[in-house]
This record gives sequence, structure tokens and C-alpha cells, in this order.
Amino acid sequence: MSTADSVLKLVRPDILALTAYSSARKEAKGGRVWLDANENPETPSVRRPLLNRYPEPQPVDLVARLAALYGVTSAQVLVTRGSDEGIDLLQRTFCRAGQDAILITPPTYGMYVVAAGIQGARTVTVPLVRERNFALDADAVLRAATSEVKLVFLCSPNNPTGGLLDRAAVLALVRALATRSVVAVDEAYVDFSGQPSLAAEVTSNPNLIVLRTLSKVHGLAGARVGTTIADPAVIAVLQKVIAPYPVPTPVLQAALAALTPTGLAAARDSAATLVAARSRLAAALAKLPAVKRVWPSDANYLLVEVADSAGAMAAGRAAGVVWRDRSKDVPHSIRITVGTAEENNATLEVLSRV
Ligand SMILES: Cc1ncc(COP(=O)(O)O)c(C=O)c1O
Repeated sequence: MSTADSVLKLVRPDILALTAYSSARKEAKGGRVWLDANENPETPSVRRPLLNRYPEPQPVDLVARLAALYGVTSAQVLVTRGSDEGIDLLQRTFCRAGQDAILITPPTYGMYVVAAGIQGARTVTVPLVRERNFALDADAVLRAATSEVKLVFLCSPNNPTGGLLDRAAVLALVRALATRSVVAVDEAYVDFSGQPSLAAEVTSNPNLIVLRTLSKVHGLAGARVGTTIADPAVIAVLQKVIAPYPVPTPVLQAALAALTPTGLAAARDSAATLVAARSRLAAALAKLPAVKRVWPSDANYLLVEVADSAGAMAAGRAAGVVWRDRSKDVPHSIRITVGTAEENNATLEVLSRV
């Protein structure tokens, strides 16, 4: 049995057996007169951009550019509506409602649990170790990953704590779980970390899935473009589950522009700017009396422990400055995005008065 076969064994049997919807554009290559998809032959009200035709289900150019960006093959790439859709698709593909579970390592990104709730999957939790800078407890994850746990979600750098998970520990866990669970590593913020992505490891580890997004360093949160990087056999199954035309034509154009050499250079500049601003903001925050602790961050935000998180949030709101209250996950803590110089000054100005 090849290792790709062993990961396919973790897929819901009914999804494996499902005949995928075959959309018109998938079937019809090289057409000249397009009368197969009940489209309007023109856009009556708007001339540009022309949107009367359905887009390609997985636009070949975009898939190729994302594959090049992430150092993988096109067959290992699925384009989704943000990585949030990737998170949802994985749960619907691997977890049988009422039977299977996901495993998360809180405090972490909230959508894993929400998507599990929607799918009817149970959530097993193995907290990160706060005393070790929110490190992964890989042994505890291994112990908790019973046969019901089809998916382990790891977030690196982790939201909201900001730190990277130890790369060697993550890879060792992926290997230890090879036939038991899929490990999905959410790398939404890895471009701010200086650490290489795990994407290249997918080829030798079919139970590893890496989630990337154009929402953060590429500045395209409004376009909703995420990438799921997985073994080609897993991508083929996910293609059965995803909606037929997930990449709207204007989104495709925006994404292709972001992935030109000029667009990619701009993203690299943006990462450097935000990483430098993160250091300045962290140092300035640490000097404020209201701030008890600034956690080290490899992302474009800072988790900040304050004396009174409710008071800080209220002061921010009164001044029109909005942060994220994470005190339910990490006591007395708020998560502050690194913004422009003026935005960071607004953060400092409000918190200096708290
Ligand atoms: C860790 C993490 N993963 C995924 C997402 C979702 O990103 P996208 O915009 O690609 O759906 C976010 C959004 O903030 C996030 O923090």
C-alpha cells in the first residue's frame, strides 16, 4: 500500500464513493461556440470586465503561479475561497458527522472549532504549553490522537499567540501519525516569520496538508484566495467537495496581478516593513505601564497582556481603535495587528492613557 493510499483510508468512505459534479468548463476543452452552460452570450448591463461566462473551476494559470510561489506542483494545489474554505473542506472530507474528531492546540485560530461544529465533528484539545512560550506538546498530541481523530490542526505562526511551532517537532508528529491522522499546518502568517514553509514536505509526507493564503502578506484579504497544498490524491478528493466555480473572474485577475514579479516584490517589501514595524511596536508597548507582557511574535500581530483587558478594549473603542480581545483564551490579553505608522501610533497613544 502506498502512503497516499493510507491517507485516502482516512477520507470519509461516502466522499470517496461520490461521483463529483462535472461542471461544464471541466468537460469542454477547446470549444469555439459555448452553448453548454446556459450562460447569457453577453453581459447586458456591464461591458467590462466580461462576466457572462463561468470561470475555470481551478484556473490553470493561477494554480501554476501558486505552485511556483509555494515550491510545489500544480497537482498539489487547490485554490479555495480564503484558507477558511480549506479548513472547512478538510473537515467535510475527512470527518464523519457524529463519529470523527479533529484535534486542536489552543489557544489557536477559532475557525477550526467552528467548522468542526458545522460538520458535527468532535473537537479534542491539547493546549500549547504557555510556560514554554506556547510550545507544542507533541507527546500529548500523539497520546490524544486516537483513531477517531482524523485531522490535527496546527497553526504556525500561531494565532493569537504569534509564535512559530517547532518545525522538527511538527514534522516528527506528522510522521508518527502517518497512517492515523492528517496533520493540517496553517501557515497564514509564515511570510512574516523568516522560517521556510513546510509545503515542500508534502511530497514525502502524504498525511501533511499545508494551508496558505493571499490574505496577509499579499494584502488580498478582500479577494478571498487561499491555497490548500496536499498530496495529489487528496487534492483530487477535495475537488469533489469544493463548489464548482470557487474563483470569480475579478478575483482571478487580482490574484494573477499579485503573483507577477512586481506583485511578489511588493509583498516581500511589505513583509519587511511590517516585521520592522512589529519590533518597534513591541518595544514601545513594553514600556507602557498598562502593558504587562508582549509575547514574541513571528506574525503581523502582537499578543499583549494588559492589566485590564476590558478597560483597554473600551478605551480603544472610545477612540475608534479596534483590537481583538483574546482574554477568554489567554487571560488579560488583547491581540493587536501591526498597522501603518499612524495606526501603530494610535495604538500606543490609547494604551498610554489606560
Ligand atoms: C491562522 C489563520 N488561518 C486562516 C485564516 C483565514 O484566512 P483567509 O483570509 O485565507 O480565509 C486566518 C484569518 O485571520 C488566520 O488567522
